Parts: sequence; C-alpha cells; structure tokens
Amino acid sequence: MCDLKQDFPPLVNDTLLRAARGDDVERIPVWVMRQAGRYLPEFRALRAEHNFFKICQTPELVAEVTLQPIRRYDLDAAIIFSDILVVPQALGMVVEMKPGVGPVLPEPLSSPSDIEKLKFPVDVKEKLGYVFEGITLTRHKLEGKVPLIGFSGAPWTLMCYMIEGGGSKTMSKAKNWLYQHPNSSHELLKILTDVTVDYLVEQVIAGAQLLQVFESNAEYLAREQFEEFSIPYFKTISEQVKKQLEKRGVESVPMTIFAKGAHHSLKKLGNIGFDIVGLDWTMIPNEARNQVGPHITLQGNLDPCALYGSKEAIKKLTHEMLSAFGKSRYIANLGHGIYPDVDPEHLKVFIDTIHEYKWST
Ligand code: CP3
Repeated sequence: MCDLKQDFPPLVNDTLLRAARGDDVERIPVWVMRQAGRYLPEFRALRAEHNFFKICQTPELVAEVTLQPIRRYDLDAAIIFSDILVVPQALGMVVEMKPGVGPVLPEPLSSPSDIEKLKFPVDVKEKLGYVFEGITLTRHKLEGKVPLIGFSGAPWTLMCYMIEGGGSKTMSKAKNWLYQHPNSSHELLKILTDVTVDYLVEQVIAGAQLLQVFESNAEYLAREQFEEFSIPYFKTISEQVKKQLEKRGVESVPMTIFAKGAHHSLKKLGNIGFDIVGLDWTMIPNEARNQVGPHITLQGNLDPCALYGSKEAIKKLTHEMLSAFGKSRYIANLGHGIYPDVDPEHLKVFIDTIHEYKWST
C-alpha cells in the first residue's frame, strides 16, 4: 500500500466533527446510514456489473460508491463503502451476498467446538488491507469536502450472523448459545472484540475521521443479556481503540455507538467511552438526552419509512425531529439505514430541510 496518508487534503466542512466534540455549529450536520446503496440508480448500475464483495475489495470501486451520495446531496459526511461481514470473512468464514436474500454464511458455527475453526488471531492488515486502501484512496478523492466515517459491526451482531448463517427473525440460534453456552459465547465475543479493535485502529490510521460501531441486533437482547454480552465489549472497544492509537502516536477520533433497540441501557451507553450515541426511531430524544447525560452527542433518528411520505410530510417530521433534539451536541440521521425502495428525491428533502431549518434564538 502506498503511503499517501500524510498529505490528505485539508478538511473544508468539519461540522460533523465539531458536533461530535460538542462545539458550536452553524448548521446541523447530517449523514444517513446506508447512504451509499441500492436506492441510488448509480449504485444499482455499478452493482449490476460487480459482485457485492468484489466492490468491497476493490479500492477504486469503494471510493466511487462512497462518493456517489456525496455528489448528489449536501451531506456532511461520507461513510466508507464496505460491510460488517468482512470481519467474519477475515476469520475464515464464507459470506455470500445473495440478491433479494441478503447475506448468507453457508457454513455457520453450529456448536461451540466450531470456534476452533476460526482463523484467529487475524492479521487485519493482511486480511482486510483492501478496506484500509479503500479508506486512504477515498480520503484523497473526497478532496477534504467532508469527513470520512469508518465502521464495524459490534461483536454480538457479528456473532448472530456467524451462528444464524444469515438474517433471522428471532436470533434464536445465537441466543441459544447465550443461555446454553455462556462461556463459549464470551470466548467468541472476545475473539470478535480483538479483531474489531485492530480493524478500527487500522481504519483510523488509513484515514477514517470518525468511527461507528453497529450493534444492529441489540434489540433481541433483554437488559440482562445486553449488560453481560454486549456492553462490556463496547467498553473494551472504545478503551482499546483509543489506547492503541495513542501508542501508535495517532490522534484518536470520535466514536459512535448505535445499539438498535437498547432502550433499557441508554444511561449505560452514555458511560462507556463513546462520544456519540445513535438512536433508532423508537427512542424519544429528550428521554435519551436525560439518560445519556449532557456530555454525549446524540445522532438520529427519523423513521426510515417516513421517507415514503409526501415531501411536505417529510419536512414536517424533520422539523419535529430537529426541535426535539435541539441544536447542540446533535447529528441528524435516520433511525436505521435507508431502505432500497426510497425515492432519492425524498432523501434530498430530508437533508435540505435539516440545513435550511431556522433556529429560533
Ligand atoms: O452506510 C453505508 O452507506 C456504508 C455501507 C454499509 C453496507 N452495510 C453496505 C451494504 C454499511 C455501513 C453496512 C453495515 C451493515 N451490514 C449492517 C449494520 C447496519 C444495519 O443496517 O443494521 C448490517 C447488519 C449488515 C449486514 C448486511 N449487509 C445485511 C443484513 C444486508 C442485506 C440487507 C440489506 O440492507 O441490503 C447487507 C447487504 C448490503 N450491505 C448492501 C449494501 C449496499 C446491499 C447488498 C447488495 O447490493 O446486494
């Protein structure tokens, strides 16, 4: 990999990073989970020609797809195009992306003894170097326009895919491990945490300016399970990423935790070393603010399905969202990823409404 990192173009729009730090902003920063994806015709055209993971593995294509929504919209951040499931791949598991189905892992972990089949420890630079190259190239191609977000799945969410072999309505196979095999569950979660820490550290070194950890499957866990099998690993991730970056002489970056459905634990999420807490659309902004405390930046949380409404309805709901969150320590987003059948023009209404909002002082 060529070492281009030292001379990244200067950042022009740093609104997202200022909101992450709690500094004043002149407009609310906005980005959208899954902003590069199938709702965009230009993504579908490129996807028709390339296998999903082939795109993820090709830095030029990663940069191209990451930039697609940036060209179309007045967004305040780009998120690197990849998938959380590159980590199970790095551990030696086969992951396929089946059109109309989603991810499929044909040989899931069916019992704790399968943990031994994982190729651990992982040299992330060797196995996931293509992600880091994609990040570095994208930083250059962004020309400093907006910051670049790196990401990973959280250990429990990855564990679900590795045991279920794909999506699931109940996560009952993965949850079976939590009740039947708690020690092996911790062993697997620890392996995933170790890889995730190295993976996130290298993303920052490659040029990521903010990191988001996706615990999309938090909603399947009751509070007790979430506190035992999810939260401690969040803590390790935030602490270790910051510590290892310091050791490497690299400035740390803001970190976001998005734990979908974790209503019961918002207070704890404000206290685990993450700077930003992402909210899904079922969470109530002022209640979340009271729970997480004043030192956290909140992110979210319009229902992704609200974009199916009329443009007028989108504007109204977006205004309501903005006034509920307030101007400080806030990053606007949807409450989960944008759906593939959303009209791209409706996303534009969401983004422009956020930027045009007049705050009464
Ligand atoms: O946000 C972005 O624009 C960056 C790209 C990104 C993708 N996946 C691309 C993608 C990100 C951040 C992800 C994260 C991801 N992947 C999560 C966490 C966020 C969430 O939505 O909960 C999860 C659970 C996955 C696993 C995954 N990948 C699923 C369940 C699916 C199928 C369902 C779906 O939404 O499509 C994918 C496929 C996927 N990941 C696509 C894209 C653009 C579509 C695949 C295709 O083109 O065939």
